[in-house]
Amino acid sequence: MSLLKLLNFHHILMLSVFTGAANGYYCYQSSQCIYSSPDLSDMVYIEGFYFNKYLFVKFNSTVGKFVGFTEFGVRNAEIWNNDTNYLQMTRAQVDIFCRHNAELMEVAIYNKTVQPKVKLSSVMPGDSKHPALVMCSAYDFYPQPIKVSWLKDGAVVTSDVTSTEELPNGDWYYQIHSELEYTPKSGEKISCVVEHASFTKPMIYDWNPPAPEFEWNIQLLFTIESVALLLGIIIAAAGFIYYKIKSTEKILVPH
Ligand SMILES: *[C@@H]1O[C@H](CO)[C@@H](O)[C@H](O)[C@H]1NC(C)=O
Ligand SMILES: *[C@@H]1O[C@H](CO)[C@@H](O)[C@H](O)[C@H]1NC(C)=O
Ligand SMILES: *[C@@H]1O[C@H](CO)[C@@H](O)[C@H](O)[C@H]1NC(C)=O
Repeated sequence: MSLLKLLNFHHILMLSVFTGAANGYYCYQSSQCIYSSPDLSDMVYIEGFYFNKYLFVKFNSTVGKFVGFTEFGVRNAEIWNNDTNYLQMTRAQVDIFCRHNAELMEVAIYNKTVQPKVKLSSVMPGDSKHPALVMCSAYDFYPQPIKVSWLKDGAVVTSDVTSTEELPNGDWYYQIHSELEYTPKSGEKISCVVEHASFTKPMIYDWNPPAPEFEWNIQLLFTIESVALLLGIIIAAAGFIYYKIKSTEKILVPH
């Protein structure tokens, strides 16, 4: 699906004829260029004339002439449609104004792409009882459409995948996160694939799970703790014995 694009221009022709403090009249002309196809073939030029908020004459390039909506509007439409030069000039706006400006905008904005920064991280390391959870994040890319998928030994994985939408950062860039739940097997290769307009081909990022040192650390912690506890008991016991001997000496050998 293609996004409908709109270039909107307002020309204020005449600002108010004041009749007292609060009353005024506001007349303006609006020019719009509406299109969705990247080659600009479906471009439509709309010119609207408004008195206060009311549209009284409109030119639509698909229709090819002015159409009036009030008595004043109908009269103006007749006069302008009668003026061959003016009509031709207005009809030409779809090319000289809309397509010209849209081309500049396409090159300057819409056709710009920024490559995502891709990061793989472990959410849950997984063990004999629980599956592992790995996350593939793509940051700061433009434009919005992107595809993030997973490969297990080169084959596409579709189950046990959860993805967010493309989340707008609020600064024209987007981010997306995809999680894969899997049971770690030795020698198995997990990869994240990112497809985006900024890449000429799908980019593959291999997952290197962190070394399983988690349980070993817990064990080590317990060992250190036990040794410390034992040492504490020994020191406390030695102190107590020393104190006992000292106090016994005091009683037995008075000065
Ligand atoms: C312009 O005219 C075409 C043909 O009548 C119509 O389909 C289209 O909706 C019009 N566009 C606007 C913005 O009025
Ligand atoms: C439009 O042009 C025709 C022929 O030139 C003329 O008879 C007619 O009065 C014109 N109408 C308006 C509203 O100017
Ligand atoms: C913008 O990109 C689209 C799609 O890649 C292409 O068809 C179009 O010609 C480009 N437009 C310009 C003005 O470069």
